[in-house]
Amino acid sequence: MAAFTDKVVWITGASSGIGEALAVAFAKEGARLVLSSRREPDLQRVAALTGLPPERVLVLPIDMRQGETFSYKVVQVRKYFGRVDVMVHNAGISQRSFARDTLVDVDRKLMEVNYFGPVALTKALLPLMQKQGGGHLVVVSSLVGYFGTPMRSAYAASKHALHGFFEALRAEESGHNIHVTMICPGYIRTNISVNALTERGEKHNQMDDNQANGIPPEECAQKIIRAVAANKQEALIGGREVVGVYLKRFVPGIFSKMLNGYNVK
Ligand SMILES: NC(=O)c1ccc[n+]([C@@H]2O[C@H](COP(=O)([O-])OP(=O)(O)OC[C@H]3O[C@@H](n4cnc5c(N)ncnc54)[C@H](OP(=O)(O)O)[C@@H]3O)[C@@H](O)[C@H]2O)c1
Repeated sequence: MAAFTDKVVWITGASSGIGEALAVAFAKEGARLVLSSRREPDLQRVAALTGLPPERVLVLPIDMRQGETFSYKVVQVRKYFGRVDVMVHNAGISQRSFARDTLVDVDRKLMEVNYFGPVALTKALLPLMQKQGGGHLVVVSSLVGYFGTPMRSAYAASKHALHGFFEALRAEESGHNIHVTMICPGYIRTNISVNALTERGEKHNQMDDNQANGIPPEECAQKIIRAVAANKQEALIGGREVVGVYLKRFVPGIFSKMLNGYNVK
């Protein structure tokens, strides 16, 4: 795919899972990379995995809850590469707790990382994308961006919110050559359940069966890259769980009853 040769691709959540697989896959496509998340040693590990020389990969630690730092992060990327062609909003945390038990602080944390972080980073980046004549925003949502499932109330809310924001933005920026692709994974074999928050904001620390049996992150990354290259508005990626999106759309009453007994792990 020549689509990404020398393109600058900025990936958040690049220290593990889908983000790590995306970094390796975009590097193979000839892209230059900016790798962001909180854990710098893991970002350095991923940078080494890509095999890119230092002038083609920038490790830029970021905390998605610290929106006040984002303008300066954009300045750092602009100084290093001069532009950002593709922004992949991939950083995220999940949840394993019932709404009734979950501290509101935990709801807020999930919204800060999963929703306000990408919103603030996009706002910091848009002037550069407009100035350079365009860009592509890739938003890693989830199937629960389309429907809520048990023990994911705040997580589902944060992913739903992304759809509203970025659909509106797509329409607003259509005249500026700025594109939006929403990525909705189902079960992908990463540490997302291990890192998920419990009702008190502690780590769930368990590899859930659905994740353990999910598709490999490398396969997910390939599908994301194909969707971005084709400038798709959305891509549903996973196993048979993606059928949920169509059930919700066409037989919402039946789907709602199915969720009542749904295996949340
Ligand atoms: N795996 C699935 O089944 C699945 C399904 C649907 C959607 N998704 C979505 O896919 C995305 C990637 O998740 P994953 O499956 O690859 O899980 P993961 O391995 O747990 O990766 C999550 C990434 O987000 C970063 N992150 C978490 N909190 C952050 C913060 N405050 N600031 C900056 N970075 C932060 C983590 O890096 P640091 O710890 O270094 O900060 C890590 O790189 C998420 O948005 C998730 O919601 C995953």
